[in-house]
Amino acid sequence: MTESGVGTLFESLLESAGRLSFDPRDLSLDDESDAEHRYGMSPQWSPLFGTSTWHSMSESDRMRLTRHEVAHFLGIGIWLELGLQVALLRQNHSASPARPDVKFLLNECADENMHSLMFVNAIASLGVDFYSRDRMMTMFGWLFRTFAWEELAYGIILAGEEMFDVMQRDWMTTADVAEAIRKTAYIHVVEESRHMVFARRKLRDRLANASRARRATSMFVIAIGTHLIAKSLINPTVYEDVGLDWDTVKSDIGENEHHRMMFRRAAEPFIEFLSREGLLNRPTRWIYRRSHLL
Ligand SMILES: [Fe+2]
Ligand SMILES: [Fe+2]
Repeated sequence: MTESGVGTLFESLLESAGRLSFDPRDLSLDDESDAEHRYGMSPQWSPLFGTSTWHSMSESDRMRLTRHEVAHFLGIGIWLELGLQVALLRQNHSASPARPDVKFLLNECADENMHSLMFVNAIASLGVDFYSRDRMMTMFGWLFRTFAWEELAYGIILAGEEMFDVMQRDWMTTADVAEAIRKTAYIHVVEESRHMVFARRKLRDRLANASRARRATSMFVIAIGTHLIAKSLINPTVYEDVGLDWDTVKSDIGENEHHRMMFRRAAEPFIEFLSREGLLNRPTRWIYRRSHLL
């Protein structure tokens, strides 16, 4: 795409944001009592779905489990949204704000702040406390927001956005999922579709003329980042909070082919994009396979 073509793409994304955006502060969310009789997310997205632990639980316990799981998933979403803003605003601090891509980035940050606010309210409406990450993930978050160079930031963000997009398309259409989650998933899917177009374009442009060594390094670190996002979605505290034994849960999830299939499904659009762009090589394929994302 030519320089002016790229400018036009960013301008049309901005126009689209002007036409179709939401203010989640206007959103009325379920109260806690209603959410008690609902799943937090489509049950098939629970890493425990179909395991012996899952079968031993009553439906009400499964609903409760998925409310805790989704609270943690959304907490990871907030963490990614805040991290991407720090990384991208740091890189663009001195750029001209009149540039169409910088204008779109400012709009994207506005969206992300509203999403984080919307998610934290959705978590509260489920009657679940916010889960924080473990120390290791907090350290990786610091590395990301402090040192990620441009294509890394866009690549890792895109991985997270694509995975949430696949999951949330199910959540927003599953009838027994809490209304707060269905509504927030719908808004997120609509607004993130523009972010994904933006990130794909940025990643492509950044790597188009990069040296082989830089491409290989960036592809490798993006694969590690994607692996960490997938890994961070499973948090022992979530399972202990609903009274399950973590060792049993860990081994159930580890052997759960259904869970691996769902995570592969979540990562599929991202992996397909990488493959189309020639951004998969032997070491990164190995990492994606090891994390059950390929
Ligand atoms: Fe978002
Ligand atoms: Fe986004």
